[in-house]
Amino acid sequence: MIYKDQLDKSRIPAHIAIIMDGNGRWAKQRGQARSFGHQAGAETVHIIAEEAAQLGVKYLTLYTFSTENWKRPAEEVSALMALLMDSIEEETLMKNNIRFRIIGEMDKLPQDVAERLRQCITRTSANTGMYLVLALSYSSKWELTEAVKRIAEEIQEGKLAIGDITDKTIDRHLATSFMPDPDLLIRTGGEIRLSNYLLWQCAYSELYFCDTYWPDFKAEELCKAIYDYQQRERRFGKTSEQLLKR
Ligand code: IPE
Ligand code: IPE
Ligand code: MG
Repeated sequence: MIYKDQLDKSRIPAHIAIIMDGNGRWAKQRGQARSFGHQAGAETVHIIAEEAAQLGVKYLTLYTFSTENWKRPAEEVSALMALLMDSIEEETLMKNNIRFRIIGEMDKLPQDVAERLRQCITRTSANTGMYLVLALSYSSKWELTEAVKRIAEEIQEGKLAIGDITDKTIDRHLATSFMPDPDLLIRTGGEIRLSNYLLWQCAYSELYFCDTYWPDFKAEELCKAIYDYQQRERRFGKTSEQLLKR
């Protein structure tokens, strides 16, 4: 079956979040260094971003480097940072009308990388198509801790009353405040866990796990995940009967 042909174009998830996992194992299978897998993974990013934009996805949030990934061997971290520098293709972003954004601790990144990313954010800011968001030096626990600090500050300064805090207050203080919550979360590479990614935002996301290593996850696999998503009924606590009545 060609999944792309089977998609309901009127029900494309607005926000897809992806945990791009399996680069290292993909390389190992080929007797290569892990960085070879990361290079191949960077190509997949371009393919998937382009496909998602063409399908009409509005937000694509890619887990690129977690807070915990700083614990990897120094050579791997620097190879990943160098790869990041090399892989940002403004031309492809412009051609696809994509807006580029980052969530995560930008200050922790090497200065040249942060500078390059900021440049790309600025240059694509007038585009009107899909947001391509890289989660870099990102983790949910970091993000929520920062949100709590800022909310506490606002209370201390008298700008916010404790009684007025709602879930929307928390949404507004997260790095993802400019996006709706993910409709679909995909994790490649076979692990069935969230690894500190968008924990608050994925409260009602549909989850899709596949064994394919990220470098092998191509456009048709994305379509397969979306097709799978379209077969599900999102009830948000209601009953099926209630949904049918609408
Ligand atoms: C995902 O692939 C990329 C990053 C976390 C940066 P991995 O590097 O985790 O690959 P595996 O899981 O070891 O195969
Ligand atoms: C999650 O992958 C982080 C990214 C994809 C950037 P990891 O490979 O680091 O996850 P764990 O540690 O195996 O859960
Ligand atoms: Mg991994």
